[in-house]
This record gives sequence, structure tokens and C-alpha cells, in this order.
Amino acid sequence: MTQRTIVRRVRGMDTADGAGVKLKRVIGQPALDMLDPFLLLDEFRSDQAGDYIEGFPDHPHRGFETVTYMLAGRMQHGDNKGNRGDLGPGSVQWMTAGSGLIHSEMPQQEAGLMWGFQLWVNLPASDKMIAPRYQDIPPGDIPVVQPADGVTVRVVAGELAGATGPVSGIATQPVYLDIALDAGARFDLSLPEGHSAFAYVFDGTSATVADGPLARSELAVLSKGDTVSFAADEAARVLLVAGRPLDEPVARYGPFVMNTPAQIHEAIADFRAGKF
Ligand code: CO
Repeated sequence: MTQRTIVRRVRGMDTADGAGVKLKRVIGQPALDMLDPFLLLDEFRSDQAGDYIEGFPDHPHRGFETVTYMLAGRMQHGDNKGNRGDLGPGSVQWMTAGSGLIHSEMPQQEAGLMWGFQLWVNLPASDKMIAPRYQDIPPGDIPVVQPADGVTVRVVAGELAGATGPVSGIATQPVYLDIALDAGARFDLSLPEGHSAFAYVFDGTSATVADGPLARSELAVLSKGDTVSFAADEAARVLLVAGRPLDEPVARYGPFVMNTPAQIHEAIADFRAGKF
């Protein structure tokens, strides 16, 4: 067994995106440009409507996947191919943008807490131009397991304690877990040895992940290995995400993530020509 350790700590950076939605950018910022295959991680959390009410109006994506996990509040998703979906508390949308689409994500509330994550997952070169695909997963379809005393895990993707997450057919074979630790709880999680992995504390004040304490709003990049340990003195929640690194060139421009600059130029031209 190889225990994973913390190789780097990153704090979320306060910024805004979309039409001015305030959020914390954790991956995809100067302190952590990417963690192959993960291109971006945002946490949005506010009970001030002015921080989120303008939402994310129409914008394109090509060449990767966006994963939205709602903890509180409601957003409505819609795209230019006629797909519509509601994202309520506890739901997940795994969108494979592939060759491209134009979509919006707009709040369905004018007050109250809006809280969740958006993760961008890269696609291998061979899949960048596949047809778009949605996996809209209601909260009740996400298995909840208790792998140890005081540990409750929602399994969005990957396998744990006999449960398999509902997200399927993703090239990077992701593990996506929402881990709730009661005070005094601890457990060891098995992970695919070569996967890139990170842990992010999003509730409570801190947790112990691998070989060290991790504060709220702090992300730990983990070393390779097949096991990672979790513990908490006080109740905490941790997002644990892992995926197979692609080890391919990345050419990136806003909502387009391809392998070469020429492909980025093509994406911009296709978008301007209305081919999305
Ligand atoms: Co988007």
C-alpha cells in the first residue's frame, strides 16, 4: 500500500465569472493552473442574491466536460440544442461538451443560499469533437454509503463500499465523492494508484487529509498512491475528486480547451460562424 500525501496546498481565490457571479476559483488560477485532467474548480456560495442573480448567460464550451454539483439553491440549465434541466440541491450535471454547444446556467431563486461546485474535466484528444452528452442526476440517484463509523459519503462517480456512482462512460475514469465526517471520525479510502487527486474542505473549519490538516476553502493536491486517509476532530465535509491524467498538450482559451493553438483558432471561427 502506498499512502498518498499532500504535495501542495492551494487556497481558493475570490473572483467573479458569468455575468458577475461571485465565486472562489480553486483550480484554474495562478496558484494552480490545472491538475491534469482537471482544468478548473469553482466553489460558489452566497446568500446575497446580488452575488449570483445574474447567473451565467449564454456561453460556449468545446473540448472538455463541465460538472455542476449543487449543495443548495436552484439553477436552470438550457442549451442551443433544446436541452433543458433543473439543477436542485444535491443534484449533479455531468455535461460532456465535446464538439461544442452554447448554454446558460441561471438561478431559479431571488433570495436564499446558492452553493455548489463547478469542475472542468479535460477530454482526451480523441474525444474532443464527440457529440455533446448530458448526465443529469437527481439527488435520489446518488448512493449514500457509510464506509466507517461517523463517515457518510455521497458517491457521484467511482466505487465505494459496494456502491457505484451514477456517472458513467467518462474517459478519465473519475472518482467524485462528497465525504461528511462526524467529529472524531476517520477512514481510509482506496483510489486508483495513478489517478491525479485532490481534496477540498468545504464545510466545518478543518479536516485531516492524508498527512496533514486542511482548512476550509483549502485544496490539497495529493501524491500518487492507492490510499488516502481522512479524519476530523469536528464535523467537516470534504470533496474528493480523482481522475486519470491525460498527459496531452493543452491549448486553452476561455471556454475552449483543445490540444493545439490551431484547434483553438478553429473553435473560435466555428463559434463565430454559428456552427455550435
Ligand atoms: Co458553462
